[in-house]
Amino acid sequence: MVVSIETLPPLPPPRQVLMVTPDHFDVVYVINPHMEGHLGQVDPKRARAQWEALRQTYQQLGFKVHTLEGVPQLPDMVFCANQTLPYQTTDGKRGVVLSRMHAPQRRDEVPHLARFFAQQGYTLTSIPETVPGSFEGMGDALWHPGHALLWGGYGFRTDRSIYEWLSRQLDVPILALRLVDPDFYHLDTCLSLLDAVSALYVPAAFDKESRALLHQHIPNLIEVPEREARELLACNAHCPDGRHVLIQKGCHETVRQLRAAGFEPIELDTSEFLKSGGSVFCLKLMFF
Ligand code: ARG
Repeated sequence: MVVSIETLPPLPPPRQVLMVTPDHFDVVYVINPHMEGHLGQVDPKRARAQWEALRQTYQQLGFKVHTLEGVPQLPDMVFCANQTLPYQTTDGKRGVVLSRMHAPQRRDEVPHLARFFAQQGYTLTSIPETVPGSFEGMGDALWHPGHALLWGGYGFRTDRSIYEWLSRQLDVPILALRLVDPDFYHLDTCLSLLDAVSALYVPAAFDKESRALLHQHIPNLIEVPEREARELLACNAHCPDGRHVLIQKGCHETVRQLRAAGFEPIELDTSEFLKSGGSVFCLKLMFF
């Protein structure tokens, strides 16, 4: 698909944050390689403190943080970037697309998020039964900062076929990226869009065509060292305002590069959540 990002309609930055409390967070099954060896290893007190620190950081940056109670037996619900994709159309309508989770263990999370958004007055859209495949919300579908364009990761949790439907449904172009490395099973583990022209990424996570697509559209692509990306999920960082970058602590080279590019990294410890294959980005959902 040929798109010229600057000419696409503007998209206002989402200002609201949703987080799900980590009360029932744990590693009790393995659905990504990061979870291996971590069954039952979560320290609930540390997880709570790390989650609180993240919530406070968003508040200090001026965002309204909504919180939803975690639910027993749904240990991954805390990763609330995955159950929906929030959107705002060019004519101002706001809603969420409900995910169709790949892992059966996570399917019952979706109705809880759906209820939250219904209560807030958002339009809910489900993937029609005629459209095959799974879709994991903002784990794989990322809004390009400032413009009505989606980047869509596929290969592990989301099927490419979903994006044809989604693009028509939301009336936005979608640039699809094939993920090829199981450590980077969601797009938000290997691509972090910082502003309209800058992003962090891990080359090894993508096939050749997808890497070319990223280079074609993002002038300032910052390559993250593989160790920081794999072990510390450096690309699960989040830049909510075009300037501050919330990132797992210890990603020294990534932090250095972020500073050199004019960003302000804020290092946080999400080590308990790394045991489950998640960090900053997937612990919250931005919505319009
Ligand atoms: N254990 C969760 C899973 O594998 C982690 C999800 C992290 N979310 C993310 N958007 N990367 O589904």
